[in-house]
Amino acid sequence: MSQSDQPSVRLRPEIIALPAYKQGKPAQADAFKLSSNENPFDPMPGVIAAVQAETAFNRYPDASALALREQLAAKFGVDSEQVHVGSGSVALLAQLILAAAGPGDEVIYSWRSFEAYPGLVAVAGATSVRVPNRADHGHDLPAMAAAITDRTRVVIICSPNNPTGAIVTADEFHAFMVAVPTDLLVLLDEAYAEFVTDADAVGGSPLLVGYPNLVVLRTFSKAYGLAGLRVGYALGSVAVLNAARSTAIPLSVTGQASAAAIASLAAEPELLGRVGVLVARRDATWRALTLQGWNLPASQANFLWLPTGDETAAAAETLADAGLIVRPFAPEGIRVSIGEDEAMQKLLTVTADIIESLPPEHVARRKD
Ligand SMILES: Cc1ncc(COP(=O)(O)O)c(C=O)c1O
Repeated sequence: MSQSDQPSVRLRPEIIALPAYKQGKPAQADAFKLSSNENPFDPMPGVIAAVQAETAFNRYPDASALALREQLAAKFGVDSEQVHVGSGSVALLAQLILAAAGPGDEVIYSWRSFEAYPGLVAVAGATSVRVPNRADHGHDLPAMAAAITDRTRVVIICSPNNPTGAIVTADEFHAFMVAVPTDLLVLLDEAYAEFVTDADAVGGSPLLVGYPNLVVLRTFSKAYGLAGLRVGYALGSVAVLNAARSTAIPLSVTGQASAAAIASLAAEPELLGRVGVLVARRDATWRALTLQGWNLPASQANFLWLPTGDETAAAAETLADAGLIVRPFAPEGIRVSIGEDEAMQKLLTVTADIIESLPPEHVARRKD
């Protein structure tokens, strides 16, 4: 840190130590942005119209986004108080962690997983406990259950997992839930749920009745293409969600965001049709990479994970030089969002060269 970077006021040391939030790199005009798991389809006309119709922004929005909550409650067969809307599911994660964990408390999650988790836990003043992913890049739920102590207040489960794309199965999830204390908050982060095609995958919402300590997090950012408007939701018990409401910054969900989400629910068949296109593109890209000789996990989300290891930074640079902005997590691997068809074709021309350049024993190479 240079002299001018030193804060002149007393700040929390654990906050100063946090790396500043790094967004997926912006893409040059002629490059493809495959670094933030965004939806490459343009917003739907009906959704744009709903946002444009929301003009009374001299007034504050409805603080609890009741109209949207009612729609979501009907969709999931729950009471509207069992739905809590936030400015993105990352805001809900922050609220729930703050509600349950403070200094001296522990929050368990699998690692590597969503890059926001460590920072959110640190901001709450709590301590992260990271349980390594299994060799197949999925969560090791028995190890996560074994990591629970009397200081654990939250366990975060990410399915499909960002950035590896692996799911938690329903069987694994049930076994975990019956093994953990019933007064321990379990957050099931389902940001990519709409992209799941594996019938064995856990689906959180039907399980809420059986597990009052479970909160399911969903978002309109990915499958519904509303990342820039910031709207996500939590499903769970009223008492737990009330605690999240208490830690929330009030009035964060704008009227435009609510209107877009409501219009998106009305347009769900078309939007899920687009998801189907992205899923087919994901699976085709995975197959093509495998044929090139890549050893990469099958993904149930809208991204793929290239385990490039020590070669991560160099490979990401090669991709960037070709006009593909991806998300490197050195020294583990590269997350590539499923984007435009043209972007995927371009990706495959570059990955063919990258895999050839990796040493024969590299983990990213198929051994069969
Ligand atoms: C696993 C996971 N959870 C939550 C989020 C947050 O999404 P948002 O705040 O846009 O709803 C993301 C975004 O990348 C994510 O990957």
